[in-house]
Parts: sequence; C-alpha cells; structure tokens
Amino acid sequence: MLSRTIPSSGESIPVIGMGTWQTFDKDNTSYPQLKEVLNQFHATGGRLIDSSPMYGKAETVVGDLSSHLPQRDEFFYATKVWIQGKQEGIQQMENSMRKMQRTVLDLIQVHNLVDYKIHLDTLRAWKEQGRIRYIGITHYKDDSHPDLEKIILSEKIDFVQFNYSVLNRNAEKRLLDICSSNGVATLINRPFGEGKLFSLVASHKLPQFAIDHGMQNWSAFFLRYIVSNPSVTCVIPATGNPDHVIENAYGGTEPVLDNGLRKKMAGYIDNL
Ligand SMILES: NC(=O)c1ccc[n+]([C@@H]2O[C@H](COP(=O)([O-])OP(=O)(O)OC[C@H]3O[C@@H](n4cnc5c(N)ncnc54)[C@H](OP(=O)(O)O)[C@@H]3O)[C@@H](O)[C@H]2O)c1
Repeated sequence: MLSRTIPSSGESIPVIGMGTWQTFDKDNTSYPQLKEVLNQFHATGGRLIDSSPMYGKAETVVGDLSSHLPQRDEFFYATKVWIQGKQEGIQQMENSMRKMQRTVLDLIQVHNLVDYKIHLDTLRAWKEQGRIRYIGITHYKDDSHPDLEKIILSEKIDFVQFNYSVLNRNAEKRLLDICSSNGVATLINRPFGEGKLFSLVASHKLPQFAIDHGMQNWSAFFLRYIVSNPSVTCVIPATGNPDHVIENAYGGTEPVLDNGLRKKMAGYIDNL
C-alpha cells in the first residue's frame, strides 16, 4: 500500500485508513465479524482507525477488539472530542482513552469544530505531556471549508479531516492546496458519500478505461481518484465487511493516476 508523510513529524502512514461511524457502533454479537475487519485491515497494510465519542459504541468496540490482537500496537488510533466546555472535553477525552484501551492516543481531533478554541488549548497541553501525538480538527460539509481554511492559517495543528470524493470535489478548489502549503496532513472522510456512490453506479459496469488503468472494482475507482491527489495523506472509508476491506485496500496501491485520467473519471461520474 502507498504511504504518505505527516508533514509536522515526517512519520509515514498508509494512505488507506478506516472510519468507524455506524459500522463499529454494534453490540458484541458483531464482534467476530468486526475482529475479521480489523485483521484484514492490518493484513492489507492499513493502520489508521478513526472514531469519535459521537459514534455510539464504536470507541468501545475498537478498544475491545484491538486490545486482544497481537497487532494492537501497530494501529494508529484517532478519535475526537465533541462537546462544549473545557472540563467536559477533558472528561470526554479521558473516557475515549479508557474505551479505546490506550494510554497514548495517536490523534485527537475537534469534531465538527465544536468549541474548537477551548479544546485546542487542552489538546496542545496533552501533546506536550505525551498523552497524544497529534492534534486536528474535522468537518464533513462543503460549507465548513472556509472555516477550516481560517483555522489552518491561524492555529498550529497537525491534521485536518474533511469530505472529498470523485462526486464531491469542493476540496479541490482551495482546501487541499492550503493544507499542503501549510504543512498540515489531510484525512478524507465520506470517500463513498456515505455509501451513496455505490448506489449511483449499481447498474453500471466499471468502464473499460478504468480497467485499462488497473482499477479492479468501483471501490478502487473511488479511492484511487482521491489518493492520486498528492495533498491527500490518508482516506478513511468505513466498512463492517471484511471483503470490502480487501477491496478498499486496492484503492491505495500503485499506480497513482494523472490529472487527465482523473478528469475523465470525474466527468464519467458527473454524467451518470
Ligand atoms: N465530522 C466528522 O468528523 C466526520 C463526518 C463523517 C465521517 N467521518 C469519518 O469518516 C468515515 C467515513 O465516512 P462515512 O462512514 O460517512 O462514509 P463512507 O466511508 O463514504 O461510506 C461508508 C459506506 O460504504 C460502504 N462500503 C465501504 N466499502 C465498500 C465496498 N468496498 N463496497 C461496497 N460498499 C462499501 C459501507 O458499507 P459496508 O459496511 O457494507 O461495507 C458503508 O455503508 C466515518 O466512518 C468517520 O470515521 C467523520
């Protein structure tokens, strides 16, 4: 799998990560299948797992399952803070550490910019103390991009997470470039538009030009479009299906696509 560098540290991470919204908000009857999801994710080269206290049981499920895997210390654990107030934020982040069963979390992000100034102060202090390794901010809507841009230019952060897909390309206008020119790593959420891209292509065969360029399935088409943008650090598709984990991993392998081909792919999807 391709890797990208986190600008603030020089550390390398695999370009395909994994989200947990809905897919990991499950009770323990789903544990055998989700354990297989984590095993396949690691086996195919994935490392970054993204969760949030907003995702119901997801942080607990990640902790319960990963802590019993021999590869537990090889994952990159990311979660978020999503609450108003300094003390409330601290309490929520302490809970996340306990639920994810980690003494150090790799990344905590301010979810949807909720009370972000207050939480960034705490996150900087925690980073100083070695409780977390990186700090970030997130959103999932196009109309948040101007706010994300302002924060990138005014605050020192390691990661920004936002929405970007072959169908929704607003981040290409400015945000991706602003991240790379300011040394901020990018995490891409909703790469399949919450799965809606698969519905859009359900009655369409993968076009021959995509097959000719090494794309084996629609998942690779959607993900390769994203990772071929050099400002993308890691994409976090969510799945509860071990077979989909394997498909998604192909989206992070060579070859990286040139801009001409990417334009053709976007045009194809726009015309459906
Ligand atoms: N504000 C924020 O911070 C924010 C907002 C939105 C999302 N996020 C993060 O970004 C992650 C990804 O976004 P998302 O969960 O909204 O949507 P997504 O990753 O765009 O789509 C997930 C959907 O795609 C399906 N899927 C995955 N791989 C597939 C494959 N190979 N073939 C067919 N279907 C496939 C999944 O179903 P199966 O389970 O059946 O595979 C699931 O229904 C979230 O889980 C979360 O961690 C963060």
